[in-house]
Amino acid sequence: MASFTWSGFLCLVSLISSLIQASHQSLPLPIRDIYQFSIPTYIEGVYVRSNGDLIVTTVWPNASIYAVCGATTDAPTISLIHAFDEIGAVTAILETQPDVFHFIGGNQSSLGFGIHGTYGVWELDLRPANGTNYTKSTIQELVRINDGGFLVALETVPDTPTTLLVSDSTNGVVWRVDTLARNYKLGIQDVNMAYPPWGATPFGIDDIHIKNGYLYWSNSYEATIYRIAITDNGYPPAGAVSEVFKAVRALFLDKFSFGPNDGDTIWVAANANSQLVAITPDGNATFVAGVSDQMMLAGPTGTAFGKLKGDTNTVYVITGGGLVSPINGTVIEGGKIVAIDTTGFF
Ligand SMILES: *[C@@H]1O[C@H](CO)[C@@H](O)[C@H](O)[C@H]1NC(C)=O
Ligand SMILES: *[C@@H]1O[C@H](CO)[C@@H](O)[C@H](O)[C@H]1NC(C)=O
Ligand SMILES: *[C@@H]1O[C@H](CO)[C@@H](O)[C@H](O)[C@H]1NC(C)=O
Ligand SMILES: *[C@@H]1O[C@H](CO)[C@@H](O)[C@H](O)[C@H]1NC(C)=O
Ligand SMILES: *[C@@H]1O[C@H](CO)[C@@H](O)[C@H](O)[C@H]1NC(C)=O
Ligand SMILES: *[C@@H]1O[C@H](CO)[C@@H](O)[C@H](O)[C@H]1NC(C)=O
Repeated sequence: MASFTWSGFLCLVSLISSLIQASHQSLPLPIRDIYQFSIPTYIEGVYVRSNGDLIVTTVWPNASIYAVCGATTDAPTISLIHAFDEIGAVTAILETQPDVFHFIGGNQSSLGFGIHGTYGVWELDLRPANGTNYTKSTIQELVRINDGGFLVALETVPDTPTTLLVSDSTNGVVWRVDTLARNYKLGIQDVNMAYPPWGATPFGIDDIHIKNGYLYWSNSYEATIYRIAITDNGYPPAGAVSEVFKAVRALFLDKFSFGPNDGDTIWVAANANSQLVAITPDGNATFVAGVSDQMMLAGPTGTAFGKLKGDTNTVYVITGGGLVSPINGTVIEGGKIVAIDTTGFF
C-alpha cells in the first residue's frame, strides 16, 4: 500500500484543481461527419451561405465546386455546381454580394505547387435562378493575375466590397483586385507573408481575414498568425508594421475563421497535425478536436461557421484526407466535410 506523503498530497490538490478547470471546458469537441469524397480528393475552400448551404471547392484531382444542402440534418445531400476543364484547382470561394460568389482558380503542377500566372479571380453568379438552383449559374474568369503564384484566399475590402484582397502564398504578397474595372495591382507586401526557406514547398501567406481593424493571416509553415493594422480602404495606415498574433506549436497552419457569432476567437485548421486549434483573444491556443495519428480530422484545410439559427456554434471543417501529410506517414482517405460543435469550448 502506498504511504502518504506531502508531495502526494500536493499532487492530489493540483489534480483536483485541474479537474475543476477541465470541467469548465468539454474537450475534445464532438465531430459529426457530413460528407466524404472518394480517394484522392482534396477540399480546400468552404463558404456557408445564409440559407445554411455549404459551398465547397476542390483542388485535387480536379477543380470542382459543390453545394452541400441540409448540413444540419441527418441526411445532407451534395450536388456538383461545376467541374472545370480550364483550371485544375479552386482554392477559395466567398459570397461578395447576395448570390454572387468570387473564387480563386488556377493550375497546379502537382498537389500544393501552383503554376505561376495561371491563377485568377473568377465569378460564380447564381442570380439566374435567384440563388435557388445551383445548376442555373454563370461562371467566368474576371481577372487573371499574370504576376501571381499560388493564390489561396480572398477577402473583400471593407469600404469597397467589389475590390478583393487575394493572398499569394508563393510571392508573399496580397494582391488588390478590382472586379468591376477587372484589373489588379499590388495591395500589401510584408516580410511576414513570405515563405520560410526551410518549408517543404514555397508556401507562405495562406488565409486572410479582416477583423477589428486588422488584417490577419496565417503563414503556414511558420504555424503563425500574423496581423497588421488596416483601414477600411484595405491599406495599412502609414507606418503600420506587422506583428505576431500567435505562434502555434503546430506543423502547418492552414485556413481559419473567426467565431462563433463573428466573435474574436480564431479557429484554424492545423493541417499536418490533423487537428483543429482555437486561439482566444488573449493568445491562448488550444487543440480542441482531432488526434494526430487518427483519421477523424485527417488533414484539415479550412473552417467556416454555421449561419442558420441554432447552428451558429457549429464550425464546419473541410479536409484533404491527409493526401499531403498522410496519417502515420502512409494512411490517407478521401477529403471530407465535418461539423464540430464548439459549445463545449466556452
Ligand atoms: C473530379 O473529382 C471528383 C471527386 O474526386 C470526381 O467525383 C469527379 O468524377 C471528377 N471529375 C472529373 C471530370 O474528373
Ligand atoms: C490548366 O491546365 C489545363 C490542362 O493542362 C490547360 O488546358 C489550361 O489551359 C490551363 N489553364 C491555365 C489558366 O493555364
Ligand atoms: C427572381 O426573383 C424575382 C423577384 O422576386 C422574380 O421576379 C423572378 O421571376 C425570379 N426569377 C426566377 C428565375 O425565379
Ligand atoms: C434547375 O435548373 C435545371 C437546368 O436548367 C433544371 O433542369 C431543373 O429542373 C431546375 N431545378 C429546379 C428545382 O428548378
Ligand atoms: C490561458 O489559459 C490558461 C489556462 O486556462 C490561463 O491560466 C491563462 O490566463 C490564459 N491566458 C494566457 C494569456 O495565457
Ligand atoms: C497510427 O499508429 C498508431 C500507433 O501504432 C495507431 O494506434 C493508430 O491507429 C494508427 N493510425 C491509423 C490511422 O492507422
